[in-house]
Amino acid sequence: MQLYLSIKAIHVGAASLSIALFCVRLYWSVRGMAVLQQRWVRTVPHVIDTLLLAAGIGLMLMLRAWPQQQPWLAAKLVGLLIYIALGSVAIKRGTTPARRLLAGALAIGVFALIVGAARMHSPWSWWGA
Ligand code: HEM
Repeated sequence: MQLYLSIKAIHVGAASLSIALFCVRLYWSVRGMAVLQQRWVRTVPHVIDTLLLAAGIGLMLMLRAWPQQQPWLAAKLVGLLIYIALGSVAIKRGTTPARRLLAGALAIGVFALIVGAARMHSPWSWWGA
């Protein structure tokens, strides 16, 4: 139980760091600031997101809960893919500041939905029973 709670704390901590760093990078991206090209700014988010995913998979294994049986877990995995794709448009691929801002705002919205799915154990996120 103690191990489970520690991994959960790592998972939630990595999720918090991920969204905090994303918001800062989104600001830099929309303003077109060069700091975004620094090596640490490009690598640290990957380390945090890998930790987030690894801890999530660890929790899943310890709970013996699988995405095929638990729709809220499947929703989180799909949500994570959408968050990553939108994030890449927001930080890298978006061709204008307005597009990067829109993709960033959508990514933050998807992140909030993923947290809702985690809290409510429902694919309907915050609206789940
Ligand atoms: C951006 C992506 C993610 C975010 C923001 C996120 C967020 C969270 C949060 C806030 C919790 C704690 C919920 C609570 O207080 O009860 C949690 C728990 C959990 N997450 Fe994630 N998560 C993400 C991705 C994932 C992924 C990809 C997986 C599976 C591979 C996963 C599996 C789990 C599991 C199994 C729990 C434990 C639920 C429980 O103990 O009741 N998460 N997540």
